[in-house]
Amino acid sequence: MKYAKRMEKVKASAIRSSQKKIAAKVANGGSVISFAAGLPDPNLYPMEELKDATMKVFEKNGKEAVAYGLSKGDNRLLKLLAKRMQEKENMDVDAENLLVVTGSQQGIAFSAMIFLDKDDIVIAENPSYLGAINAFRPYEPQFLGVDTDEDGIVVEHLDKILSENPNVKMIYVIPSFQNPSGKTWTTERRKAFMEVVNKYDDIVVIEDNPYGEIRFKGEPTPTLKSLDTKGNVVYLGSMSKVLTPGLRVAWVVADKEVVDKMELIKEGADLQCNQFAQNQVAEYLENYDLDAHIEEIRAAYKNRCELMMKTIKEYFPEGVKYTDPDGGMFIWVELPEGIDANEMLDDAIEAGVAYVSGEFFYANEGKKNTIRLNYTTMSEEQIVEGIKILAKVIENKMK
Ligand SMILES: Cc1ncc(COP(=O)(O)O)c(C=O)c1O
Repeated sequence: MKYAKRMEKVKASAIRSSQKKIAAKVANGGSVISFAAGLPDPNLYPMEELKDATMKVFEKNGKEAVAYGLSKGDNRLLKLLAKRMQEKENMDVDAENLLVVTGSQQGIAFSAMIFLDKDDIVIAENPSYLGAINAFRPYEPQFLGVDTDEDGIVVEHLDKILSENPNVKMIYVIPSFQNPSGKTWTTERRKAFMEVVNKYDDIVVIEDNPYGEIRFKGEPTPTLKSLDTKGNVVYLGSMSKVLTPGLRVAWVVADKEVVDKMELIKEGADLQCNQFAQNQVAEYLENYDLDAHIEEIRAAYKNRCELMMKTIKEYFPEGVKYTDPDGGMFIWVELPEGIDANEMLDDAIEAGVAYVSGEFFYANEGKKNTIRLNYTTMSEEQIVEGIKILAKVIENKMK
């Protein structure tokens, strides 16, 4: 087949390659404790409530719930989400500033479609979400990575990049409980970031926030969108990590002009989001307490994260660095210089534990000595056991 040139830019996900290795080991009768996934714990889905909400949708909305709907999204859902954004995130927006999308992943893809031309520069944190980098690649932008430290994005570095590169079109960031690093920007950093961005008129900021509500430690921080005075920020929210990922209900919050453009793209891409899923989420939001449910998720992930941190501190050899997240789903590990985490993955899987190598989360050259660990899907026993095994694998590699 003669594929479009852009396909040369699209690569298989590293997560898929570690999944293949795990599957091979399991097929040969082995067992693997996997910290590679990026999934919420299915045991925490509110199944009874969703079942009840589903029946109510059939009873109350009948055929309308399975008919075609508006490209922008179901009106009831748009209003409920706008209210949530006003109340929870202090955003000065209403339903006309929102568009329902098929996962925030579609919001990322649409952002690329409406903003990016070939060779435009996209700035992303170093490291960043692989799924976004891959969604941008077909539009053939150039990527520049910006440094982060324990307080978040290094604003001086961003300022320098912006002043030296007039082609910057977009800044893609995950300020809360980042995937993959688990880092969260402080309030001061968020304000300083907006000050720098506000110096420019034509740079769009994509604020991807699927984990923001899963804070289990520390003080809340404002979203960039709530600090946005010029309409530069396009915010992406999602039900995937707080309700269920398979409903694929997520939303974009932006200036009406941006939402209108995305609506046009949505019509061409898939006409609309699944009408039934939108009804299910709207029914759930109206009749159940999403905040109480999020409290349960927070408590469960807090326990698992603290257990993983405690075990890491106890067993990982001296010289290994790691983040200590205040929320979300990931811990980022930096091994001593010279260790290739991707090479080490074969040893790890052989020993019975898996992770994702960090180098694949960089838009350009990645740090080979890094690892992403997820703590949301394994049991407490598996977390302790898996970290002990990984500690041994690292220790052997360091010899
Ligand atoms: C940072 C980030 N953005 C977006 C997504 C995609 O989420 P959704 O299920 O809403 O498409 C993920 C999923 O893991 C993610 O980690």
